[in-house]
Order: sequence, then C-alpha cells, then structure tokens
Amino acid sequence: MNDFWKQIDTYAKQWVREAGAMIKDSFSKELLIQTKSNPNDLVTNMDQEVEQFFISKIKGTFPNHRILGEEGYGEKIETTEGVIWVIDPIDGTMNFVHQQRNFAISVGIFENGVGQAGFIYDVVHDELYYALKGHGAYMNDIKLPKLEPVSIEEAVISLNATWVTENKRIDPSVLSPLVRRVRGTRSYGSAAIELAYVAAGRLDAYITMRLAPWDFAAGKVLIEEVGGVVTDLKGEPLQILNRSSLFVGKPGLHENILSTYLSGN
Ligand code: IPD
Ligand code: CA
Ligand code: CA
Repeated sequence: MNDFWKQIDTYAKQWVREAGAMIKDSFSKELLIQTKSNPNDLVTNMDQEVEQFFISKIKGTFPNHRILGEEGYGEKIETTEGVIWVIDPIDGTMNFVHQQRNFAISVGIFENGVGQAGFIYDVVHDELYYALKGHGAYMNDIKLPKLEPVSIEEAVISLNATWVTENKRIDPSVLSPLVRRVRGTRSYGSAAIELAYVAAGRLDAYITMRLAPWDFAAGKVLIEEVGGVVTDLKGEPLQILNRSSLFVGKPGLHENILSTYLSGN
C-alpha cells in the first residue's frame, strides 16, 4: 500500500470512529427529525452534523479532494476525475430513529472513477468493515475470506418485501419465485449493512431496485475485494455517480440468479 492510501486509510478509520462516537452520544439527547421527499424519508440533525464533520475533516486535510454526501453539504459532482469521497453519514436513518441500531456510516473513496477504499461502520455493534483495493477486506482486525460459490437453494438473500408486492419498479412475479426457492430472505433496512454482510459472507446476495451512490460506494469496494460480484439488476457495471438498481452476490450465485430470474427485466 503506498503512503498516500495508507494516510487516507488511517484518517478515514479515525474519522469514522469519531463520527460513531458522536452518534452514540446523541442517543441520550433529543433528536430533531424532519422529512425529505416523503413522510417516510427521514433526516435528523445527526445525519447533517455527521456529514458536516466529515467535510470539515476532509477539506482540512485533503483540500483537493471532492466530496459527494447524501445531505448535500458536499459538492455538485459531475465528473469522476481525482479523488472523490462518497459519504452517507447515517445509512438506515429510519432504523436510527426507530431502533437506535441497524444503521451505519458509509464512506467510499474513488480515484478517477475506480473504487479504492471503503469503510462501513456499524456503530452500535462496533463493527468496522473496510477494504483497500488490492489489500483485502477486514471486519475490525479480522481478514474476510474470499467468497465461495453457493447454490440458490442454500442461499440467504436480502431484499425488501416491497419488491415482491405491487410497486412501480419491478413486476412482483420476477422475484417471488426466487424468494420461494432460496433458503431464506432477510431485510435489514440499511443498504450499507446489507453490503457489508455480503462481503462478510453473512448474506449470499442482496437485491434492490434503487440506490444512490452514497448507499453503495463503500460496499462495492468491500464486496469486490473478497471476490463478490457487483452490478445493477441487468448485470451491468454500476455508474458511480448515478442512482441505480443493485444486485450483489457471491460468484456463481450472482450469474445463476441473473440468468435464471433477472435477464430480460
Ligand atoms: C436508505 C437505506 C435503505 C434503502 C434505501 C436507502 P438512508 O438509506 O439504505 O436500506 O432501502 O433505499 O435510501 O436514507 O437511510 O440513508
Ligand atoms: Ca443511505
Ligand atoms: Ca443516509
């Protein structure tokens, strides 16, 4: 690992843990909750404060790096040149508000469009998942093994129940046969946690119809580092600055589900 990425790795881990401590402290304080695009799209003062915290740290240390953050305190980014930090200060805000668990801080760092580093911090479980491209993926100090193929019948996959009921993004008949065939389904309500769990082998695949760059930036780096496959629902590579559907999974399983259930949709 060269000194540049070693330095980024050290700072990112330090800031993610500091931000986690700020979030934990907020549990004993009153939370200001507002809605964004619809009554279920929540944002709190902590989402905003944590994003602002990252921006001041990054700009103070790496003034040339650009930042794309969910809450909009970063920049308007239209090209992938240079180093870009893609930040979701709290992924799983609904869980944060309702459960005080099952949410994570997600930080993905790209250079000229290539994912180089990913950090997903499950604050309450104190689990920091991280990867640097070419240097393996870890959960705290434990190296995550390469993902091995698994059959559909033995797979535990993550998806939201919305996608097998009437919705405007996918016909429910596409995924319901898959849901019946797999060993089990799960839904955690935080894309970042679901992606970290695929990287850690706790889930075999994760399927969702619409995510933003800050939801998947870090998870993409983590999963690719352990040999998992990251695409959109059509099997195409993700565009890092665009919203997209997402289908990630173990090697073999990903191809199998894609060709049996998803091709043509
Ligand atoms: C949301 C979570 C959720 C996913 C949504 C995201 P947020 O992020 O990741 O699991 O289904 O699409 O928007 O709003 O809590 O940061
Ligand atoms: Ca999110
Ligand atoms: Ca968020």
